[in-house]
Order: sequence, then C-alpha cells, then structure tokens
Amino acid sequence: MQRKTNRTQRLRHAAALAMAISSCWLTATVAELPPVPFPDENPITEEKRILGKILFWDEQLSSDNTVACGTCHMPAAGGVDPRMGRHPGTDPGTIDDVRGSPGIVSLDSHGRPAEHPVFGFGPQVTPRLSLSNFGSLWAAEAFWDGSAAGEFRDPLTGRIVIAAGGALENQALTALSNDAEMAKHGRTWQELTAKLARVTPLGVASDLPDDIAAALGDSPDYSKLFADAFGDAAITPVRIAFAIATYERTLLPDQTPWDRHQAGDSDAMSEVELLGWQAMQDFQCVKCHEPPLFTNNDYFNIGLRRADYDPGRQAITGDPEDAGEVRVPSLRNVGLRPRFMHTGEFQTLGAAVGFYRTGAVLAERDLIPGGGNYAFNMGNVTEADIRAFLQNSLTDPRVRDERFPFDRPMLRTERNPADALPPIAPLNLEATGEGNSLRLSWDAPADNIGVVDYVLERDGRVIALLTTTSFEDADAPPGPSVTYTLRARDAALNESPPARLTITGGPQ
Ligand code: HEC
Ligand code: HEC
Repeated sequence: MQRKTNRTQRLRHAAALAMAISSCWLTATVAELPPVPFPDENPITEEKRILGKILFWDEQLSSDNTVACGTCHMPAAGGVDPRMGRHPGTDPGTIDDVRGSPGIVSLDSHGRPAEHPVFGFGPQVTPRLSLSNFGSLWAAEAFWDGSAAGEFRDPLTGRIVIAAGGALENQALTALSNDAEMAKHGRTWQELTAKLARVTPLGVASDLPDDIAAALGDSPDYSKLFADAFGDAAITPVRIAFAIATYERTLLPDQTPWDRHQAGDSDAMSEVELLGWQAMQDFQCVKCHEPPLFTNNDYFNIGLRRADYDPGRQAITGDPEDAGEVRVPSLRNVGLRPRFMHTGEFQTLGAAVGFYRTGAVLAERDLIPGGGNYAFNMGNVTEADIRAFLQNSLTDPRVRDERFPFDRPMLRTERNPADALPPIAPLNLEATGEGNSLRLSWDAPADNIGVVDYVLERDGRVIALLTTTSFEDADAPPGPSVTYTLRARDAALNESPPARLTITGGPQ
C-alpha cells in the first residue's frame, strides 16, 4: 500500500484525522450522507434531472442504437454492469486479462462495422470494470484513476464552463466520445446533437417509468425537453453533460439497513451483520471504505496486480509513487455487484473479502514495487461476519428492486424476441424531392412485429438510425447516381435483408 504525498492529500488526511479524534466516529453515531455537492454553474433542477434520466437510458446516444449509459450501469447490479466481457490485456488468457464491460462493436467513421484487431466484429470491452456513479458524487475526480477532473470545458469551444466540481459532467462526455463504449470512430458532437434533434426520446426502449412517461407526454421530443431544462431548444454537448450529471446527483442510496441502524433502529441489522460491522471497524477497513460513503475517495494500490498491467493513478499524475493505485470504490450496494475490483477478477463477495486475507494467491503480487500484500489476519468466522455485513447491510432495497429514483426503462438489448428470425425487408422504399434534398419514405415490413429501428445507408455510409418510416436527406450528393439501402432490425439486432433504391441522374 502506498500513501499519497501531494499537499492537498496530506491536508485532507490531516483534516480527516482531526475529525476522527475529535468526534470518535468509530464508535459514535456516524452522520447521514452529506448533501451532494454540485457546481455553481449547474444547479439541480427537476427538468434537468428528468432529461438526464432519459438521456442516461437512451441507447440512441450510441452510434448504433445498442448501448446506453445504463447498459453498463444497472441499479440492480449495484450500479455496475451485470454482463461480462473479457479484455485480454496485451495477450489473451493470461493474468493481465480484465473482466470489463462490453460496449459497441468497432464502427468506422461511416458507421459500418470495422474489424477490430482484438475484438473482431464482436462488442469491444472496456479495460476496467465499470464503477457505480455513487462513489464519485462527492469526489473531486471520477473514474478508477481519477482521470475525469473537476474543470469542465465545452468541447466545441474549449471554453471553461465549470471551474471546479464538474467531474461528473466531464465523465459523461468521455463515455459519449469513447469509440469502444458508445461512439463510432471520429463521431462529431454535431452528429450526436443532430441525431437527438431527430429521434424520439427513448424510441428504442420500452416500459418507461412514470416520471419519464409524464415528461415525454404525447409528442416526445428532445428539443422540447432541452427547452424545458435550459430555456431554449438548443441541444449541445455541454447541456447533455449538465443534464446527465444532474440525474446522477439525485441517485442516493441512503436507505440501507446500516443507515437505519445509524438512525437508531436497533432491528435494522442482524446480529451477524452487527458483528461484521464491528469487524470492519476493528480491521480498519473503514479507514479507506470510510462511512457514510464507504469510500474516502483516495487512491491506493492494495496489491491486486502488478502496476505495469494497469498504471492506475500514475498515468494521470506521472508520479511513480502512484503506480497501480486506484480510487477506493464505495461499498454501498456492493452486495448487488456481480464482480469486484477494477479488474473484475472476483466473482463473489467472499472472494473479494478473502483477497484481504490471502494476499499470496498470485505469485506475481510479490513483485509489486514498494507495495506488497495488503493482508489482514482474519479468521473464518470474522470473514463470514464481514461478508454478511457487506452483502445485506449496505444494500438500499430501492436500488435492488429498481424503484424510484432508481427505476428505469427496459432496454432493447434486454428484450429477447421469442422468435429469433430476422425481420423481413422494409417495403416500398421511395424518394421524392429536389436539389440536394431528398425525402425518403418506406413501409414497415409486412411482419413488422418486433421491428425496433431501421439502418439507412447512402452509398455504403450509415446516415441514420430511425424509429420512424421516413427521413429527410438534406445532403444527397448531386453525382450521377446515389444508392440507398435500408434494413429493419429487431430488439436483438437481427437485420432484415436490405431494401435498395438507386437514383440515377442526381436527385430529381
Ligand atoms: C460500455 C460500458 C459503459 C458505458 C456505455 C458507459 N460507462 Fe460509465 N463506466 C464504465 C466503466 C468501465 C467505468 C470505469 C472506467 C475507469 O474508471 O477506467 C465507468 C465509469 C463511470 C463513472 C465514474 C464513477 C466513479 O466513481 O468514478 C460514471 C459517473 C459513469 N461511468 C457514468 C456513465 C455515463 C453518464 C455514461 C453515458 C454517457 C456511461 N457511464 C456510459 C462503463 C461504461
Ligand atoms: C488501504 C485502503 C483500503 C483498506 C484498508 C481496505 N480497502 Fe477494500 N478496497 C480498496 C481499494 C483501493 C479497492 C479497489 C482495488 C482495485 O480494484 O484494485 C478496494 C476494493 C474492495 C472491495 C471490492 C469492491 C468492488 O466494488 O469492487 C471490497 C469488497 C473491499 N475492498 C472490502 C474491504 C474490506 C472488508 C476491508 C477490510 C478487511 C478493506 N476493503 C480494506 C482500499 C482499501
């Protein structure tokens, strides 16, 4: 384990220590969750929250309509990804492999699948396990390595729009422009904002929560939602980030048995859980997983892996002392998570807690420079107590059951059409119009049950993903001929054969 040496960190530790001494917080009542900080530039409003919720769950924010923020951040999975992908590191099947989150397939700048050297035509996988947004609500920096810091700039102008406290805003735009998570190669903000202006919000999702259904009303439209949230209808990357960050700041899992226990409810936790809670304090787990957040948002290398597999914090600070350090994950809702640690290498909570007693499972752990094993001399009974505490006492039932504010729509990729046959081709594809502007329209395939969206290509380039049956192509090239292809897709992304339309002699 290595401690930070920079000045702010030292000050923070000194302040924490002074607080610990003055309030004896290890035995006395711990305060409830502190108010969530927000930057002055982005105050929390209900209009922004609901827009943020819609954006967070809309798979149309990805280039191929398959991945929403929420795909990798599911409440019932403790805010992380219930699916599993494998990132092979430098070579597959070895110790440096990571269980990460599957994102989109690699798409070239035309939006067509492009073979990826590692993942082929399959979904790409993130090089770390996903994190719940919760831990970063009070943190100065987001991500395992803190790479999303508090200053937030407008990606269009470079202008600073949030001076400090904007890590969540920063983070949101990172995911939207990451070509493994949500974006085709080189996606421009203009492409994303123009798409949002055109699509039906959550047009590919189903089972909308009540608050979303009410906000969408009879004529769902992003421009209107942006106008409600920001005063005018402009859709910009900064506003997208502001809305998503606002939504995240309202997701507070503060109704756990532990919270009720702290508030004086002596029945909230079982006897075993109480013993586990005591053990967490005796073993100083709470020094890093510090209540009430169950993280101190500091960076440590607990000796999981060699730092050359993942330099962690060092990649941001450049300081060799930070090698392999990652931000302490909050343990709230940890009992819901399917995998643990930034590497996702443990699939049970027992294995994750067990790591702290069996630091020598991997021989290479001994090679961690300046670190070594972070091991606790913990008996079986104590370990079981801690596990019971983590499994039950830190779980907010609203998160587990995905109840408000943790409710969500169902995503297209979660719907499995009973018949796996691909849709048949769309019918009657035709074009009208003049100049460079063509209006395309078509009819749904005769068996359109299950069609979720259409992929429209012009000369081999994806120009739109649509949930409606018409499209205004304002950029039709004036050349001698132009060919459109249109495919229908179901929830499981099965594609119909293409309907084709070739127009010769330029648009007429
Ligand atoms: C393909 C899966 C995937 C998608 C899509 C995705 N994320 Fe993440 N998210 C991750 C992973 C993996 C991490 C951790 C990455 C790291 O720290 O290196 C993460 C980290 C985060 C964090 C940081 C939490 C913390 O404590 O620092 C937040 C907040 C977050 N994501 C929100 C979002 C939002 C908002 C979107 C949509 C705009 C989004 N994510 C889309 C996988 C995903
Ligand atoms: C020195 C700080 C520190 C101490 C002390 C500490 N942890 Fe951790 N803990 C971390 C860090 C950092 C991680 C993430 C490590 C990684 O992914 O590389 C972590 C991860 C975890 C996880 C996995 C969480 C997840 O969502 O992946 C669990 C469970 C956990 N710790 C439990 C404990 C218990 C129980 C104790 C006491 C026996 C303890 N920790 C003591 C820093 C600490």
